[in-house]
Amino acid sequence: MTYVVTENCIKCKYQDCVEVCPVDCFYEGENMLVIHPDECIDCGVCEPECPAEAIVADDKLEDDSWVEFNTKYAESWPNITEKGEPPADAKDWDGKEGKMAHFSPEPGEGD
Ligand code: SF4
Ligand code: F3S
Repeated sequence: MTYVVTENCIKCKYQDCVEVCPVDCFYEGENMLVIHPDECIDCGVCEPECPAEAIVADDKLEDDSWVEFNTKYAESWPNITEKGEPPADAKDWDGKEGKMAHFSPEPGEGD
C-alpha cells in the first residue's frame, strides 16, 4: 500500500504535506507534487495535512492509474522536503473540475 497525490493538487500545490513526511518521499513538479510509492511507508500522516484533500491511500482508488502517475513523475522530478510558497491563486483552483488539462509535466525546483 502507498499514499499518492491526486488531481486536486494541480495548481493548488500547498506543500504542507512535505513538512510532515518522515521519509521525505515527495517530488516536485512545476504545479503539483507526487509521492514515490516505493519510498512511502504508509504512515498516513500527510493525508490530513493537505488542505486540498489531494492525498489518497491507494486502496481507496478505483484503479492503479494514480499510483502509476506518481511513480512516473517521482522518478524524474526533484525531491522536496521543505515547504515553499504556494501559488497566490491556490484557493481559486481548489476543487475545480478538469484540472488534468492544466497539469505541467515540467520539473519543479526541488530543495
Ligand atoms: Fe510520507 Fe507517510 Fe505520506 Fe507516505 S503516507 S508520503 S510516508 S507522510
Ligand atoms: Fe499538493 Fe496537498 Fe501537498 S495540495 S502539495 S498534496 S499539501
